Amino acid sequence: MISGRTIDIAPSILSADFSRLGEQIEAVKRGGATILHFDVMDGHFVPNLTVGLPVLKSLARATELPIDAHLMISEPGRYAQQFVEAGAKMVSVHVEADAHLHRTLAAIKAAGAQAGVVVNPATSLESLSDVLQFADYVLVMSVNPGFGGQKFIDASVEKVSRLRNMIRERKLTTRIEIDGGIDQENIAAVVAAGAEIIVAGSAIFGASDPEAAVKDLRAAAAH
Ligand code: DX5
Ligand code: ZN
Repeated sequence: MISGRTIDIAPSILSADFSRLGEQIEAVKRGGATILHFDVMDGHFVPNLTVGLPVLKSLARATELPIDAHLMISEPGRYAQQFVEAGAKMVSVHVEADAHLHRTLAAIKAAGAQAGVVVNPATSLESLSDVLQFADYVLVMSVNPGFGGQKFIDASVEKVSRLRNMIRERKLTTRIEIDGGIDQENIAAVVAAGAEIIVAGSAIFGASDPEAAVKDLRAAAAH
């Protein structure tokens, strides 16, 4: 807890060793990870391909950590509910990818998961204006989605704090998640700005000891 807020550390398995995924997930759990971030890419909305429903289904059976599915796919409304049925406890969709956001968020909630909306670095917070009240959380991308290991875009800190103000002004309880380039150097700044769910891929799975890396991130977040 940091001033009454729960901070979740959500390792992104995109940077994990997929041949030892179960083992690596156990390690980050021991380190204090509270959510597992699962990146889904379709080679269309973003220029990369990753994993999908069958892998999510297996993982959901193999870990008690809640799985946060980040859908970087076009027309996510076609699949969002299936991700909940496969075991995701959180499902987020990009505002840039969905012409029917309200319907998609409602479908995610109706299926029993928390619904999130995601904004790319160049997408204005204004685009959230009419959808904010329908989302359980907003994911602010601090890199352009598609790949792990990219450099954190510094302007994201100020964007998170503007979003926090927008949420406060409307008296909502929406949580803020941040994803991309998070490391020990910048985690304190994003947490201070208002982020509560912190995704980290390469800073955790790129480290020689992922368990220790989660602990170090959590410690750095409190500074
Ligand atoms: C990027 C993904 C991220 C990625 C983060 O498109 O959405 O979740 O795995 O990795 P790092 O922390 O290495 O930027
Ligand atoms: Zn992600």
